[in-house]
Amino acid sequence: MPGFPMFMKKHDLVYLTEDASHDAAIEIINEEAFGPGRFARAAARIREQGPHDLSLSFVCADDGETIASVRMTPVMAGSIKGHLLGPLAVRPSHKNRGIGRELVRIAVEAARRKGSECVILVGDPPYYQPLGFETVAYGALTFPGPVDPNRVLVVPMIEDVHAGLKGDIHWRA
Ligand SMILES: CC(C)(COP(=O)(O)OP(=O)(O)OC[C@H]1O[C@@H](n2cnc3c(N)ncnc32)[C@H](O)[C@@H]1OP(=O)(O)O)[C@@H](O)C(=O)NCCC(=O)NCCS
Repeated sequence: MPGFPMFMKKHDLVYLTEDASHDAAIEIINEEAFGPGRFARAAARIREQGPHDLSLSFVCADDGETIASVRMTPVMAGSIKGHLLGPLAVRPSHKNRGIGRELVRIAVEAARRKGSECVILVGDPPYYQPLGFETVAYGALTFPGPVDPNRVLVVPMIEDVHAGLKGDIHWRA
Protein backbone atom coordinates (compact mmCIF):
# COMPACT_ATOMS: atom_id res chain seq x y z
CA MET A 1 0.00 0.00 0.00
CA PRO A 2 1.88 3.13 -1.18
CA GLY A 3 2.58 5.65 1.56
CA PHE A 4 1.10 3.34 4.19
CA PRO A 5 3.60 2.08 6.78
CA MET A 6 3.77 -1.73 6.96
CA PHE A 7 2.80 -1.83 10.65
CA MET A 8 -0.51 -0.22 9.73
CA LYS A 9 -1.33 -2.74 7.02
CA LYS A 10 -5.00 -3.48 7.37
CA HIS A 11 -5.93 -7.13 7.22
CA ASP A 12 -8.86 -7.78 5.00
CA LEU A 13 -10.49 -10.93 6.37
CA VAL A 14 -13.47 -12.41 4.56
CA TYR A 15 -15.47 -15.55 5.33
CA LEU A 16 -16.60 -17.54 2.30
CA THR A 17 -18.53 -20.70 1.61
CA GLU A 18 -16.06 -23.40 0.56
CA ASP A 19 -15.84 -24.42 -3.08
CA ALA A 20 -13.50 -26.66 -5.09
CA SER A 21 -11.06 -23.79 -5.68
CA HIS A 22 -10.16 -23.90 -1.96
CA ASP A 23 -9.20 -27.59 -1.94
CA ALA A 24 -5.42 -27.22 -2.32
CA ALA A 25 -5.14 -24.50 0.33
CA ILE A 26 -7.32 -26.44 2.79
CA GLU A 27 -5.14 -29.52 2.31
CA ILE A 28 -2.06 -27.48 3.25
CA ILE A 29 -3.78 -25.87 6.25
CA ASN A 30 -4.89 -29.26 7.62
CA GLU A 31 -1.51 -30.89 6.97
CA GLU A 32 0.17 -28.04 8.84
CA ALA A 33 -2.30 -28.21 11.75
CA PHE A 34 -2.68 -31.96 12.22
CA GLY A 35 0.18 -33.65 10.32
CA PRO A 36 0.09 -37.01 8.55
CA GLY A 37 -1.68 -38.77 11.47
CA ARG A 38 -4.87 -36.83 10.77
CA PHE A 39 -6.37 -39.54 8.56
CA ALA A 40 -6.21 -42.10 11.38
CA ARG A 41 -8.43 -40.09 13.72
CA ALA A 42 -11.89 -41.50 14.43
CA ALA A 43 -13.64 -38.39 13.07
CA ALA A 44 -11.57 -38.64 9.88
CA ARG A 45 -12.83 -42.19 9.37
CA ILE A 46 -16.39 -40.85 9.34
CA ARG A 47 -15.38 -38.19 6.85
CA GLU A 48 -13.92 -40.90 4.59
CA GLN A 49 -17.35 -42.52 4.36
CA GLY A 50 -18.74 -39.75 2.16
CA PRO A 51 -18.32 -36.14 1.08
CA HIS A 52 -18.60 -33.13 3.35
CA ASP A 53 -21.37 -30.59 2.79
CA LEU A 54 -19.83 -27.67 0.88
CA SER A 55 -22.83 -25.44 1.65
CA LEU A 56 -22.03 -25.68 5.39
CA SER A 57 -18.23 -25.55 5.07
CA PHE A 58 -16.38 -22.25 5.22
CA VAL A 59 -12.98 -20.68 4.74
CA CYS A 60 -11.44 -17.44 5.92
CA ALA A 61 -9.31 -15.52 3.42
CA ASP A 62 -6.88 -12.72 4.19
CA ASP A 63 -6.26 -10.48 1.19
CA GLY A 64 -7.38 -13.35 -1.04
CA GLU A 65 -5.24 -16.05 0.61
CA THR A 66 -7.11 -18.90 2.31
CA ILE A 67 -5.83 -19.05 5.89
CA ALA A 68 -8.44 -21.07 7.80
CA SER A 69 -11.07 -23.72 7.18
CA VAL A 70 -13.94 -25.54 8.81
CA ARG A 71 -15.75 -28.46 7.23
CA MET A 72 -19.09 -30.05 8.05
CA THR A 73 -20.09 -33.61 7.21
CA PRO A 74 -23.65 -34.97 7.42
CA VAL A 75 -23.91 -37.74 10.01
CA MET A 76 -26.39 -40.01 11.67
CA ALA A 77 -25.53 -39.97 15.38
CA GLY A 78 -27.70 -42.58 17.04
CA SER A 79 -31.16 -41.49 15.88
CA ILE A 80 -30.19 -37.83 15.32
CA LYS A 81 -29.59 -36.31 11.87
CA GLY A 82 -26.74 -33.93 12.51
CA HIS A 83 -23.47 -32.61 11.18
CA LEU A 84 -19.92 -33.46 12.25
CA LEU A 85 -17.79 -30.31 12.54
CA GLY A 86 -14.15 -30.63 11.55
CA PRO A 87 -11.43 -30.32 10.71
CA LEU A 88 -11.18 -26.77 12.05
CA ALA A 89 -7.80 -25.23 11.46
CA VAL A 90 -6.27 -21.76 11.34
CA ARG A 91 -2.80 -21.08 9.96
CA PRO A 92 -0.30 -20.34 12.77
CA SER A 93 0.26 -16.84 11.34
CA HIS A 94 -3.40 -16.04 12.00
CA LYS A 95 -4.10 -17.71 15.35
CA ASN A 96 -5.68 -15.95 18.34
CA ARG A 97 -7.61 -13.39 16.35
CA GLY A 98 -11.03 -14.98 16.80
CA ILE A 99 -11.01 -16.61 13.35
CA GLY A 100 -11.54 -20.16 14.65
CA ARG A 101 -14.41 -19.05 16.86
CA GLU A 102 -16.02 -17.14 14.00
CA LEU A 103 -15.77 -20.13 11.64
CA VAL A 104 -17.45 -22.34 14.25
CA ARG A 105 -20.19 -19.76 14.81
CA ILE A 106 -20.85 -19.43 11.06
CA ALA A 107 -20.91 -23.19 10.49
CA VAL A 108 -23.23 -23.87 13.44
CA GLU A 109 -25.66 -21.15 12.38
CA ALA A 110 -25.65 -22.39 8.78
CA ALA A 111 -26.42 -25.93 9.97
CA ARG A 112 -29.25 -24.61 12.16
CA ARG A 113 -30.75 -22.75 9.19
CA LYS A 114 -30.52 -25.91 7.10
CA GLY A 115 -32.55 -27.84 9.68
CA SER A 116 -29.75 -29.90 11.18
CA GLU A 117 -30.67 -31.55 14.48
CA CYS A 118 -27.24 -31.09 16.06
CA VAL A 119 -23.61 -30.21 15.42
CA ILE A 120 -21.23 -32.72 16.91
CA LEU A 121 -17.45 -32.87 17.13
CA VAL A 122 -14.47 -34.39 18.87
CA GLY A 123 -12.46 -31.55 20.37
CA ASP A 124 -11.16 -29.66 23.38
CA PRO A 125 -14.03 -28.76 25.75
CA PRO A 126 -12.40 -25.53 27.03
CA TYR A 127 -12.39 -24.17 23.45
CA TYR A 128 -15.82 -25.33 22.35
CA GLN A 129 -17.98 -25.05 25.49
CA PRO A 130 -18.09 -21.22 25.36
CA LEU A 131 -19.36 -21.63 21.77
CA GLY A 132 -22.45 -23.56 22.89
CA PHE A 133 -21.13 -27.14 22.87
CA GLU A 134 -22.19 -29.59 25.60
CA THR A 135 -20.63 -32.90 26.60
CA VAL A 136 -22.32 -36.01 25.17
CA ALA A 137 -23.12 -38.72 27.76
CA TYR A 138 -19.94 -40.69 28.42
CA GLY A 139 -19.48 -43.42 25.81
CA ALA A 140 -23.02 -43.04 24.41
CA LEU A 141 -21.80 -42.75 20.81
CA THR A 142 -19.63 -45.34 19.12
CA PHE A 143 -17.16 -43.92 16.60
CA PRO A 144 -15.40 -45.96 13.90
CA GLY A 145 -12.19 -45.76 15.94
CA PRO A 146 -11.12 -44.84 19.46
CA VAL A 147 -12.11 -41.44 20.85
CA ASP A 148 -11.77 -39.88 24.28
CA PRO A 149 -15.44 -39.78 25.41
CA ASN A 150 -14.76 -36.58 27.35
CA ARG A 151 -14.06 -34.81 24.05
CA VAL A 152 -17.32 -35.73 22.27
CA LEU A 153 -19.32 -32.48 22.22
CA VAL A 154 -22.63 -31.37 20.74
CA VAL A 155 -24.74 -28.29 20.03
CA PRO A 156 -28.33 -29.58 20.32
CA MET A 157 -30.77 -27.98 17.87
CA ILE A 158 -33.96 -29.87 18.63
CA GLU A 159 -35.56 -31.08 21.86
CA ASP A 160 -34.22 -34.26 23.45
CA VAL A 161 -31.07 -34.50 21.34
CA HIS A 162 -29.13 -36.09 24.18
CA ALA A 163 -31.67 -38.91 24.47
CA GLY A 164 -31.21 -39.73 20.78
CA LEU A 165 -27.39 -39.65 20.83
CA LYS A 166 -26.96 -43.35 21.55
CA GLY A 167 -25.35 -45.89 19.23
CA ASP A 168 -23.18 -45.56 16.13
CA ILE A 169 -22.18 -42.38 14.40
CA HIS A 170 -21.66 -42.62 10.64
CA TRP A 171 -21.91 -40.61 7.43
CA ARG A 172 -25.38 -40.14 5.98
CA ALA A 173 -26.51 -39.09 2.52
C1 LIG B 1 -7.67 -24.48 17.69
C2 LIG B 1 -7.67 -23.42 16.60
C3 LIG B 1 -8.63 -23.81 15.49
C4 LIG B 1 -8.10 -22.10 17.24
O1 LIG B 1 -8.21 -21.11 16.23
P1 LIG B 1 -7.90 -19.59 16.55
O2 LIG B 1 -8.44 -18.77 15.43
O3 LIG B 1 -6.48 -19.42 16.89
O4 LIG B 1 -8.76 -19.40 17.89
P2 LIG B 1 -9.56 -18.12 18.35
O5 LIG B 1 -8.79 -16.89 18.01
O6 LIG B 1 -10.95 -18.22 17.91
O7 LIG B 1 -9.56 -18.37 19.93
C5 LIG B 1 -8.37 -18.17 20.61
C6 LIG B 1 -8.57 -18.56 22.05
O8 LIG B 1 -8.79 -19.97 22.11
C7 LIG B 1 -7.80 -20.54 22.95
N1 LIG B 1 -7.51 -21.88 22.45
C8 LIG B 1 -6.90 -22.21 21.31
N2 LIG B 1 -6.81 -23.57 21.22
C9 LIG B 1 -7.38 -24.05 22.33
C10 LIG B 1 -7.57 -25.35 22.82
N3 LIG B 1 -7.18 -26.43 22.15
N4 LIG B 1 -8.19 -25.49 24.03
C11 LIG B 1 -8.59 -24.42 24.74
N5 LIG B 1 -8.43 -23.16 24.31
C12 LIG B 1 -7.83 -22.99 23.12
C13 LIG B 1 -6.63 -19.60 22.86
O9 LIG B 1 -5.79 -19.74 23.97
C14 LIG B 1 -7.33 -18.25 22.86
O10 LIG B 1 -7.76 -17.92 24.15
P3 LIG B 1 -8.00 -16.37 24.58
O11 LIG B 1 -9.09 -15.84 23.70
O12 LIG B 1 -8.38 -16.48 26.01
O13 LIG B 1 -6.70 -15.70 24.32
C15 LIG B 1 -6.23 -23.21 16.02
O14 LIG B 1 -5.36 -22.94 17.08
C16 LIG B 1 -5.71 -24.41 15.24
O15 LIG B 1 -5.85 -24.47 14.03
N6 LIG B 1 -5.09 -25.36 15.96
C17 LIG B 1 -4.55 -26.56 15.32
C18 LIG B 1 -5.64 -27.49 14.88
C19 LIG B 1 -6.63 -27.82 15.98
O16 LIG B 1 -6.25 -28.14 17.10
N7 LIG B 1 -7.92 -27.74 15.64
C20 LIG B 1 -9.01 -27.98 16.56
C21 LIG B 1 -9.30 -29.43 16.66
S1 LIG B 1 -10.23 -29.78 18.12
